[in-house]
Amino acid sequence: MKKIAPSILSADLARLGDEVKEVIAAGADWIHVDVMDGHFVPNITIGPVVVKALKKAVSIPLDVHLMIENADLYLEAFIEAGADILTVQVEACTHLHRTVHAIKEKGVRAGVALNPATPLESLDFILADVDLVMIMTVNPGFGGQEFIPAMLPKIEQLKGIIAKQKLNVEIEVDGGIKVANIGEVARRGGDIFVAGSGIFGTPDRKETIKKMRREIGA
Ligand code: DX5
Ligand code: ZN
Repeated sequence: MKKIAPSILSADLARLGDEVKEVIAAGADWIHVDVMDGHFVPNITIGPVVVKALKKAVSIPLDVHLMIENADLYLEAFIEAGADILTVQVEACTHLHRTVHAIKEKGVRAGVALNPATPLESLDFILADVDLVMIMTVNPGFGGQEFIPAMLPKIEQLKGIIAKQKLNVEIEVDGGIKVANIGEVARRGGDIFVAGSGIFGTPDRKETIKKMRREIGA
């Protein structure tokens, strides 16, 4: 099942509760939460307290994307706060295998994210252990950046590897997703589509999600 995950990074954060309720009513499948630490990426966003507050307001899964160093130190806090899916950046995790298993041991789905320049080979010894791989189609740090088209063959290649190994791993695509390109990303193998500005930046979010669903056939 293909899923759409609006990223709250582009929501009106002063009205966060209403913003997420609006996109849920409009048909969002997951809510994507971008956590940035000012070290791994040149921006600072939100932490477990906001995830905890969202958990009370939201009935659909919270998809938490950790763009932080020392992720191991914060896994428990995000899980306790209510993360349903926890994704770490492979570039930021020295002991990635340990980190992935620490997430799964808590009964939470584990994802690994790859920056645009990080090769698929970095997944060689971890792919079978994860629930999802997130292909970054922008360099993480900010919403509203341009989708990098060179990531399309990367998505396609990953889809092939997963199929060949008969794994149950979903591909999430994050960065620059809009109505205009979501169909192509789906055809190349994307399963879960994160969209921040592509949804929250449009005047009629319901219409946008409807159009996106039509494009991906979901
Ligand atoms: C990028 C974040 C994305 C971002 C996507 O650093 O990980 O999730 O919010 O925003 P858009 O869809 O505007 O590129
Ligand atoms: Zn993200």
